[in-house]
Amino acid sequence: MEDILNIRNVSKIYQNAGHQLTVLDNISFSIQTGSTVSITGPSGSGKTTLLGLCAGLDRSSSGSVELNQVALDHLTEDQRAAVRNRYVGFIFQNFQLLPTLTALENVMVPLELRGEKNIKSHALELLDKVGLADRSGHYPIQLSGGEQQRVSLARAFSNKPAILFADEPTGNLDAETSDKVIKLMFDLNREAGTTLVIVTHDLDLAAKTNRMIKLKGGVIISDLELSHA
Ligand SMILES: Nc1ncnc2c1ncn2[C@@H]1O[C@H](COP(=O)(O)OP(=O)(O)O)[C@@H](O)[C@H]1O
Ligand SMILES: [Mg+2]
Repeated sequence: MEDILNIRNVSKIYQNAGHQLTVLDNISFSIQTGSTVSITGPSGSGKTTLLGLCAGLDRSSSGSVELNQVALDHLTEDQRAAVRNRYVGFIFQNFQLLPTLTALENVMVPLELRGEKNIKSHALELLDKVGLADRSGHYPIQLSGGEQQRVSLARAFSNKPAILFADEPTGNLDAETSDKVIKLMFDLNREAGTTLVIVTHDLDLAAKTNRMIKLKGGVIISDLELSHA
């Protein structure tokens, strides 16, 4: 299997009031197409920053990020958005649904951006998949945290992403909803071959992946293959 993601010597440095903060320090790793990977580590260790760089949401200070053989480093914001729309699904810890759009409309946005036809019926299908067909007309504020997270999952699935990045996807969910969300992600991996990269504090969730990467202070301190024999 080839690699869907190639990170080489990536650093991220923020300039804050005259002094430098190195958030990621010369990180390198690759992720195999179709695999499932968890990223763990204490708060502030750089997990969200790393995920954002891998997904092309943000740019590194140095080093290279290659997603599906596309080097993201010298692309414009618009070009990176196009790559994201084509290959990437992203689940944010705080959902990041658009508050003025209904559940259905939130799921329709990426479909519209792709110029798909029949987007409404496709979006409904996706909402149905996450068990929310009956809430399609509801606005985010009218939905519970778990329901919002499932809408955001439906939105992330909408472009059949080659790779799904999830930033603490179950961090705000009760145990039952959390199990549902986890199942949906792993189903997507099995059924569509979607690579999963999941930042989590939940060691049970991490243990379900093929590989656990642990970050601390902006560097990788361990990288373990897990066998599920
Ligand atoms: N835009 C920013 N400007 C300055 N510092 C930032 C910015 N974003 C994140 N940081 C800092 O980078 C470090 C890592 O943050 P983050 O990637 O969110 O960690 P984690 O997700 O592991 O909790 C933190 O110390 C945070 O304060
Ligand atoms: Mg974070």
